[in-house]
Parts: sequence; C-alpha cells; structure tokens
Amino acid sequence: MSFDSYGRRIEYLRLSVTDRCDLRCSYCMPEGFKGYEEPANWLTFDEIERVVGAFAHLGVQKIRLTGGEPLLRRNLPDLATRISALPGITDLSLSSNGTQLGKHAQALRAAGITRLNISLDTLDPARFAEITRRDALGDVLYGLSAAREEGFGPIKINMVVMAGVNDDEIDAMAAYCIGHRFVLRLIEAMPVGETGQKTAFLALGPIRDRLRQRFGLIDGVVPGAGPARYLVSPDGSYRIGFITPMSQHFCDTCNRLRLSVDGTLYLCLGQDDKVELRPLLRSGCSDEQLEQALLDGIRRKPFKHEFREQPGQIVRFMSFTGG
Ligand code: 5AD
Ligand code: SF4
Repeated sequence: MSFDSYGRRIEYLRLSVTDRCDLRCSYCMPEGFKGYEEPANWLTFDEIERVVGAFAHLGVQKIRLTGGEPLLRRNLPDLATRISALPGITDLSLSSNGTQLGKHAQALRAAGITRLNISLDTLDPARFAEITRRDALGDVLYGLSAAREEGFGPIKINMVVMAGVNDDEIDAMAAYCIGHRFVLRLIEAMPVGETGQKTAFLALGPIRDRLRQRFGLIDGVVPGAGPARYLVSPDGSYRIGFITPMSQHFCDTCNRLRLSVDGTLYLCLGQDDKVELRPLLRSGCSDEQLEQALLDGIRRKPFKHEFREQPGQIVRFMSFTGG
C-alpha cells in the first residue's frame, strides 16, 4: 500500500485515454477548441499497461477510464481487457458522455468494465444542444438504455448544476433516474480552465435539503462513495449523490491521481504539481525507476485544491486532465 505525506492511501488512478471530445460542454471546453495533443505524444496501450501495472504493484486497485471522451480512443475495449487482467486491479470503470455508448456497450462489458458514469446535464434536447453545442441527446439516451441491457451497474448520471441553466431540472432528473434505476449525482462546477472559470458554481447544500424533504430521503452511508455524499430512500432502493468541491471540499479523503493522455501524472485536479512519465518511459527506464517516479509523485501530492482561494490557477481544461 502507498500513502502520501498526509497519510492518505492512494488506491485509485483516473486514466485519461484521449483529450478529444465530440461534445463541447460550456463549462469544460471552448467552442472552437483546436489544441489537441499530437498522436505521437499519446501513451500507447503498452505504455499505459506498464504504468497501470506499476501502480497496481504499489497498491492501486481501482482504475477509471476517462477523457475527453474515452470512447473516441480506438480499440478502447482492448485496453480495458488488458487492464482488467492485471494482478491487483479489482475495479475498472468508465466515465463517458454516452454519445457512442450504444455502439460499444457490449464490448466494454465483455472487457471487464462494470461501473459507468455518464455525464448528462439535461433531458431537454434544445438545452442539451445549448450546453454541449451538439444535438446528441437522443444518442446519449440510446447509449444509456444499451448500457442497462448489458447489465452495467451501477450506472451513475453526473449532472453539473448551473444556476439559470439547468437548476430547474433537478427534480425531473431525479425522477428520471429513479425511474430508470440510475444513480443521480449533482456536481458543483469547478474553475478548471477558462471555461470552468466562466461557470459560476451553484452551492448544493440548499438543494440537498430541499430534495431530502421532497422525496423523504435520509443521509446515507455508502461504502467507497469517494467524494459523493448521498441521500438514500428509506427502503434503500435509490440514492442521490452530491459532489461539492466548492462549498465543502473533500480533499482530506482524496485517494486518487490522474494520468493524462500524454503521460503526465497530475497529483491534484486543482494544482499544477505533476510527474512527466512519458520521457521516462521512452528513455527505457527500469521498472524500479518507474515505480520510484510514481512514489515520488504520491509523496508530493498536494494537500488540497485552492479553487476558492485561487480560482484562476488552473489553465488546463478538464478534458485534458480527465473529468
Ligand atoms: N466542473 C465540474 N465538473 C466538470 N466536468 C467537466 N468540467 C467540469 C467543471 N468545470 C465534469 C462533468 C463531466 C465530466 C467529464 O467532467 O461532470 O461529467
Ligand atoms: Fe466532453 Fe465531458 Fe468535456 Fe463535455 S464535459 S466537453 S462531454 S469532456
């Protein structure tokens, strides 16, 4: 097991397999974004497998594939199969915007992915097109139904709540998710990149109080919940999560690192501290040298983000670090 200098056990790696995305969510990427990483700088599947293997050796058990939109990386199910097979990896999950999920759900399930997080901020087609700048709500809903048929569970829906944009839809989203047995999670927008910085976050505390009343929910203790705090129904049949990086940060229990597509290991979503793994990997480093570099990163993990104190600090886009 590996612990950082604040005694937090690092057991989770979020792996961004591409910085590309077929949507342009207003809080995430600029509309005309062109600055994608060169393919020559993408870690190959062999390189990714090696890094994940080294992390597993150091006690990391959970991997999440993310992006950008991870399903845009060609042959992603092959990578998932390879990662699932690594000794020590007990949990493989995927975060996706769902537009391509219908096509890939079966292969992803066969590749050992069990849990899915799907971004969905609205159920209104016109509003979806405004927020994401693409008319693709139908594709996402089709992807969700395909995923359910393949037996993924749980399927979580991540909704970034924005005042005056989609906060009037929270109850409708809750009803939709309860009806479809999805787990709804409401998220406060973070000032990541200029797009995130232009998006005001909506504090979720009052919304949580209102939903508690309205649906008769109680505070839940959900093992392995990560940053989400849950309200659960009295009979335990459904829950709603709240992710509050802005109004109530959860850095003291952070258990994760992030690897971007170019092989940069980011130690905190809200800080610039990093370890450049690509040059190391491509200079023919030994397994010991690689593990030493990872341990060095774990030791240097910052204590907390400073989104409130320094909202202009993080210039890289969410789609690069991995949402
Ligand atoms: N704040 C909070 N969440 C964000 N995401 C992207 N940008 C932001 C941001 N600025 C999340 C969205 C999406 C995932 C890919 O990343 O929830 O579900
Ligand atoms: Fe793409 Fe996700 Fe960013 Fe939206 S939030 S643009 S789906 S990476």
